[in-house]
Formats: sequence, structure tokens, C-alpha cells
Amino acid sequence: MMSEIEGAANWVAEARSVVVLTGAGMSAESSVPTFRDAQTGLWERFEPEQLATEEAFRANTSLVWSWYVWRSILIDAAEPNAGHEAIGSWQKHLAATGGFLTVATQNVDDLHERGGADGVLHLHGALQNYRCLDCNTPVAYDSRSAAIRPGQEFDDDNLLDPVTCSHCATGVLRPGVVWFGERLPEDVFSSAVHAVQHADLVVVVGTSGLVQPAASLPIIGQEADAKVIEINPVPTGLSNTADVYLQSTAAATLPRVLNRLLA
Ligand code: OAD
Repeated sequence: MMSEIEGAANWVAEARSVVVLTGAGMSAESSVPTFRDAQTGLWERFEPEQLATEEAFRANTSLVWSWYVWRSILIDAAEPNAGHEAIGSWQKHLAATGGFLTVATQNVDDLHERGGADGVLHLHGALQNYRCLDCNTPVAYDSRSAAIRPGQEFDDDNLLDPVTCSHCATGVLRPGVVWFGERLPEDVFSSAVHAVQHADLVVVVGTSGLVQPAASLPIIGQEADAKVIEINPVPTGLSNTADVYLQSTAAATLPRVLNRLLA
């Protein structure tokens, strides 16, 4: 592992144009559970694909709404971890030395921003950008007004009622995330493609690589001759072809890889 860290630190030292691609594992050490690792309480019974669709939301509005509000409260209570902070510092370091770092994340939380990163590309949207399911108008909603607390467990009797849209007064609010079957925000995805095509280094952190088209981004980078570093405690489809695969966690490993550069 030591020599792999050294190898990664060498690519990092040389890189001027960097893309960091992150998934749910990036926020795991901030106590935000991932999608495909074991879930807790009520949510244990559901696959993400069962909850994260418009069809599921229309069919089981209280259940799916409660799931997102629960996740939103968890995110509000979470703090960015040492990995988020290392990425934020790296971006500032590169900007100050004529380089460039883009963060493209599948995460709908704001922990990269709170960890100091700017211009984060949210491939799957942002949870707190609520809008009406029917009239599509953005509507502010503060999940702290919901009658649940961080860590609260749900059962079928204490689900939250959906919130009616204050604009059209008929639809209900939905979270600003990209559900299965929906298109990614086109400008965000094309910016991410452009960034990996022009990167000399792509760092992939905490994603299972099972959801397209986000999973294609490291491959597009490789095809354009970018080096790829992957950080994930569990090997993925990318681990064999990455230039360096670090079998460890985001918060433990990113600061070690960046230590020499940011010292
Ligand atoms: P997954 O839950 O599929 O994968 C999380 C990955 O993080 C796994 O490969 C874990 O091994 C890894 N992991 C766990 N803890 C980690 C840690 N501390 N450090 C680094 N890695 C760790 O999450 P995503 O790949 O992000 O979509 O899932 C992709 C999309 O599927 C999500 O954006 C979401 C979901 O359904 C939507 O909501 C549309």
C-alpha cells in the first residue's frame, strides 16, 4: 500500500488538469450511508432503484418523501470529512499554481462545497433543490421543519405527509435529484465529459461504478490518455485498469496521497 500511495503521490505532483469523480463512498466517513452497502431501519427493505424513481414517488409518495427528508436531515447534521477537505485544498493549490481541478460528483449532498470545493458538478442533482412534481417550479423547503430528527427510525405509521407546492397548490414537492429513468442535467454532464477529456489525471473515489452514464466518465478519461487513480475499500470494475488502485477509504487515503503536495 505504501508504494501505491507513493505512486499516486507522484501522479498528483505532476498533474495540472485534474478531475475528481466521487460517489456515495466519499461521504460515508461523514456518516452518510451509501446506497448499495447495508442500509438502516425501514430503508433496509428497499433497493435504491425501488425508491429513486418518479413512479415510486407517485405510487408511495409518503414513503419516498420521508426517505429523502430523512437523508436531507442526515446530510445537514453531517460534516465534511478529511477527504472532502483535502480535495478543496488541492483545488485551491492548483488554481494558485496555474492548474485546474474539477469535482464531478454523483452525490446530492453539499459536503464537497462545505469542504472548500468550488464549481462542483452535481451529476445527479442536489437534494435541497426542491421543485414541484407537477408544475416544475423551484420551491424552497427546509427539511428542519419536518417532524423528524437525525437518527429517527421510521415505521409504516410515522411517515411524513408530502408538502403541497406553494406555486400551483396542487402538485407536491420532489427533491432536486436525478431519478432512475431521468436524464442527467445536460450541461453538467457535458462539462464533466469535457473535463475528463482534457484531464491529465482522474481520481475516482467511492463509487461502485454501476450507474450510467456517470460510470463512463473514468473510461472517457482513460481513452483521452488521463492517468486514473481509484480509491475504494472494495474493488470495482475499474480497479484492474486504473493506473493506481488504493484499496482504502476516502478520508484515510486522500490526505495521505496529497500530503507531499500540500505540505
Ligand atoms: P454506491 O452505494 O453504489 O457505491 C458506494 C461505493 O463506495 C462502493 O463501491 C463502496 O465500496 C465505496 N465505499 C464505501 N465506503 C467508502 C469509503 N469510506 N471511502 C471510499 N469508498 C467507500 O454509490 P454510488 O456509486 O455513488 O443515484 O451510486 C451511484 C448512484 O446510485 C447514486 O448517485 C444514486 C444511487 O442510486 C441517484 O440517486 C440517482
